[in-house]
Amino acid sequence: MHVSLPADMDLNTYLDLRKREFYLTADALRSVAADFVRAMESGLAGRPSSLRMLPSFLGSPSGREHDSVIAIDFGGTNIRVLEVELDGNGGVVTKRILRAPLVDPAGAYDHLGAGSNAEGLFGFIADRVAEIARPGVSYDLGHTFSFPCRQTGVNEARLIFWTKEIRTAGVEGEDVGQLLDRALASRGLSQVRSRAILNDTVGTLLAAAFTRPHVAIGSICGTGHNTCYLEPVHPLTGRPMIVNMESGNFDAAPQTRFDRELDEASERPGTQRLEKMGSGRYIGEIVRRVLIDMAAEGLLPVSAGLSRRDVLSGPEVGAILADGAGLEATAATLASCFGWVSLGDERLAAVRTVVGLLVERSARLTAATFCGTLLHIDPPLSGEHVIAVDGSLYEKMPYYAGWIQQAIDETLPAARGRVGTMLAKDGSGIGAAIAAATAAASEV
Ligand code: BGC
Repeated sequence: MHVSLPADMDLNTYLDLRKREFYLTADALRSVAADFVRAMESGLAGRPSSLRMLPSFLGSPSGREHDSVIAIDFGGTNIRVLEVELDGNGGVVTKRILRAPLVDPAGAYDHLGAGSNAEGLFGFIADRVAEIARPGVSYDLGHTFSFPCRQTGVNEARLIFWTKEIRTAGVEGEDVGQLLDRALASRGLSQVRSRAILNDTVGTLLAAAFTRPHVAIGSICGTGHNTCYLEPVHPLTGRPMIVNMESGNFDAAPQTRFDRELDEASERPGTQRLEKMGSGRYIGEIVRRVLIDMAAEGLLPVSAGLSRRDVLSGPEVGAILADGAGLEATAATLASCFGWVSLGDERLAAVRTVVGLLVERSARLTAATFCGTLLHIDPPLSGEHVIAVDGSLYEKMPYYAGWIQQAIDETLPAARGRVGTMLAKDGSGIGAAIAAATAAASEV
């Protein structure tokens, strides 16, 4: 949608225009949901679609999984390595957990940026596994790898391309299990046996479905965004299988010029369009682009900070949104990012309004894709559904979870009270353990 600006722009007129552009009505959400269902069905049938509908080779867990497992959870910012015990009666005990940043804040290493490579990245991960694995104990290994992978089996996954602006060389097109196995072998970790590679959405779904009924959809609303679901009769096997939709790549949500410009300036233009419209990695960037526009309209001061990419982080966006009537956090954030002091209440409040519009748009778009997924798995919407969600936006961004629920209720009023979301905190690591145990049991 293109909205042209009147010659004499004041803050309120400007905000009205942005609201018309960014606010998605219930009708708009229903149309996104309908497009989403069509994209799911095309992708599943192997026709061209922005939804890749990647098979996971995993079904739903039984709760009887029994194993001693090491789980790796690699999502983009940190890795977590967990030692987990599954007791065979639905019990999960996390015995130890180790977290490490992949980009050292002190600047000693960067496994994700320009100049990093596969050997460094997987060597670093294997070193963390070595810290957790007890000598003489055998483990099955489950590996959550939160990027689009083409799987040919539960333990075979090739990275299609990096998302979330990662640039590590030598991984795209490669089998990530083999890269990890090589790194483990070169460290003499023969007691650790790779069993499963899975997406973080799949891990989240597995962990939630392990302990409660009605969970057939798993999602991440964090640095990146994506959703998976349990396809009752998968075309490949004729049996239930979890499908990683890679819904961050969905391309039918209504983009504005701010979204198009952000996409063009990103590592991989044309990909991950939905993700770039509101995940934690990009939300600050969209806000910055609107602030640049406001400065060009004379509504905010021009500043050098405005041209610094990624200057505004997801948590800073959250601090602005959470701000009270005094707008102190907004003033402090804008001062540190853009050097603006004494903006005055009206302009501070206008920035907070822009932030609110963009965060709410992100939540509503996510909700529309959840509704599309529900309409695919339960067209008459007769059942009860719990959508398991993890990620910093869902957990920490003010209003986000509530806005998702409100938009689901507006989009599918007939299902009100029967569709909800739940936080599946750190589910992807536990899900990796469940996947490894399932795969190990089916091999014995
Ligand atoms: C990746 C997905 C992942 C999501 C959440 C996206 O960038 O493509 O595979 O599930 O981020 O981590």
